Amino acid sequence: QIPVITIDGPSGSGKGTVTGLVARQLGWHVLDSGAIYRVLALAAEQSGIAPTSEAALRTMALQLQVEFVDGKTLLGGADVGRAIRTESVGSYASQIASLEGVREGLLQRQRDFRQEPGLVADGRDMGTVVFTDAPLKIFLTASAEERARRRYLQLKEAGHSVNLPALVEEIRARDERDTNREVAPLKPADDAIVLDSTTLTIEQVVERVLAEATT
Ligand code: CDP
Repeated sequence: QIPVITIDGPSGSGKGTVTGLVARQLGWHVLDSGAIYRVLALAAEQSGIAPTSEAALRTMALQLQVEFVDGKTLLGGADVGRAIRTESVGSYASQIASLEGVREGLLQRQRDFRQEPGLVADGRDMGTVVFTDAPLKIFLTASAEERARRRYLQLKEAGHSVNLPALVEEIRARDERDTNREVAPLKPADDAIVLDSTTLTIEQVVERVLAEATT
């Protein structure tokens, strides 16, 4: 079996950064599953599909022309790396992510990222649904305030205009939806290692994950 490390957790827990750094250290591939949900959300928004149209969204999920090339995120060949990072697309993504048809439509596409020599998979259900047989599962958390603060800095750096209190609210609403949905709710897998990163630096988290990976 090709090895997989799953890194699940809520928004702003540092998953994305940790995933990238761990993958680079190991020379493994990366799956940013959230980016796939976001690209689908963007495509649906652009086509005027309502976030509740499950059948249409499932079809779109199965046909989605998404590619990750040289650090770029492409939708039908167009670079959408920046467009998918808005809070509006994030919110739309989290709404459609509660639909069984959407999750199922994206399942095989995510599993196809499992290639030699290994994969580090970032998401909400990598350890609980997509790669249930992964030998190492991490669940990364942090307080909502700390996560909002990190997201604020990230968005500002990317040149988006943001408002911190609104972001805390949005993160809470998103947590609430992701945790309470019936399909693939956000929770640690039974065999996951839970890491609270509120008071840890990224380097400390990466070190912990690599230590677990090599034991
Ligand atoms: O960056 P952030 O953590 O805010 O979100 P993301 O990872 O880009 O994912 C956007 C949304 O897609 C999340 O709020 C989830 O609702 C959904 N998602 C999911 O349901 N399952 C995944 N494996 C990844 C993302």
